[in-house]
Amino acid sequence: MTRTAVYPGSFDPVTNGHLDIIIRAAGMFDRLIIGVLVNSSKKPVFSTEERVELLEKAIPKIPGCQIEVMSFEGLLADFVTLVGATTIVKGLRAVSDFEYEFQMALANRKINHRLDTIFLMTSERYMYLSSSIVREIGKYGGDISDFIPKAVKDDVIKKLWKGNK
Ligand code: PNS
Repeated sequence: MTRTAVYPGSFDPVTNGHLDIIIRAAGMFDRLIIGVLVNSSKKPVFSTEERVELLEKAIPKIPGCQIEVMSFEGLLADFVTLVGATTIVKGLRAVSDFEYEFQMALANRKINHRLDTIFLMTSERYMYLSSSIVREIGKYGGDISDFIPKAVKDDVIKKLWKGNK
């Protein structure tokens, strides 16, 4: 049996925190789908295509796990079912993430009782890290090289810096 999981998010843009969760989840599943939300109410800075491309560039080959980056619209529960999975992977940083994530996990299970959400605790060096922190620092020309995967550093810096002009 192929064990498939979905790691969903806005990834606006991908950070080292995301990559850490992806690499650790890849060790647990045969197939990992990275689901990039298209119509985020958050009005993403990076287009859907850019967010998908950055992820594809940033994710290394991991033996034993097939990783695919796909965008999705609408309900996560529907997307997870569409790709033949029943497991959602999420990262948890501080306690403040918990309440929202708990609510989402229960809502997704209410929509489809076969869905389970598993949480990976962030590695402590990424506790403070988020895409919005990266966007904020990058916009003003600050150094974001410790925050985002090396492979996409130049692309992300160029876009955030340009967006501020
Ligand atoms: O990286 P983010 O922005 O925290 O990711 C949030 C995401 C994409 C996981 C969440 O917004 C989501 O699942 N959106 C799809 C709509 C949905 O299914 N909502 C939950 C049921 S109420």
